Amino acid sequence: MLAFMVAGYETTSTALAWFIHFMSKHPHVQEKIKEELMSNGDSQNLTLDQLDALVYLDCVINEAFRYFPPIEGTIRTLTVDDRLPDSGIQLYKGDSVYIPLYNLAHDSRYWSIDPELFCPERFLSEDSSHNPYALLPFGGGHRQCIGQDLGRFELKVIIARMMQQVTFVDGGPKVNSGGHLTRFTILPKHVGVAIEFAQ
Ligand code: HEM
Repeated sequence: MLAFMVAGYETTSTALAWFIHFMSKHPHVQEKIKEELMSNGDSQNLTLDQLDALVYLDCVINEAFRYFPPIEGTIRTLTVDDRLPDSGIQLYKGDSVYIPLYNLAHDSRYWSIDPELFCPERFLSEDSSHNPYALLPFGGGHRQCIGQDLGRFELKVIIARMMQQVTFVDGGPKVNSGGHLTRFTILPKHVGVAIEFAQ
């Protein structure tokens, strides 16, 4: 239970903080989320079908995960000796291999649209069939995140409800300069936004 609390809290809140920062910097993306919500019956009680229909919102969440995956990387320990297929590098039982989730998500070899651009539309166009191993915000294989469905669901519901009520506006270069700190998660450093409430 302790592992669930530790692994589930800061990851999800960090993803939400990044979302707020990105929205303040990309007002047209925020507008498109709101339009999608409106066209799906913008009700207070969102049904599962309504949430499932928010395809553009899924792209925005994926792009936030790609741009700053809350967990920078993960580690696997070899249980047998092995050799990497392309480079021929020899690895031995007991070696630890670091899998750099952030670097994979920003490696231009795996993305058609410049990976340094925040562009949710990539998942509906050139990058819709990206290399699956280039985007692993929840890790992969037997030890992938056990809470990923809950994490994604929480984020989608919270974001959809927020986008029905408020708009995040850039608070200016001094307070909303971005940057990041790496602790347990990759945290945004300066997120200063104004919040406009819907009438
Ligand atoms: C945005 C939300 C989240 C992100 C980005 C995230 C990310 C990750 C990553 C990258 C791993 C390592 C996977 C690997 O090595 O292949 C992991 C493991 C784990 N996560 Fe999450 N996580 C999130 C939410 C949650 C939630 C909500 C829970 C529980 C309620 C949770 C529980 C765990 C646990 C228990 C592990 C260890 C699994 C194992 O070693 O078998 N996570 N998570």
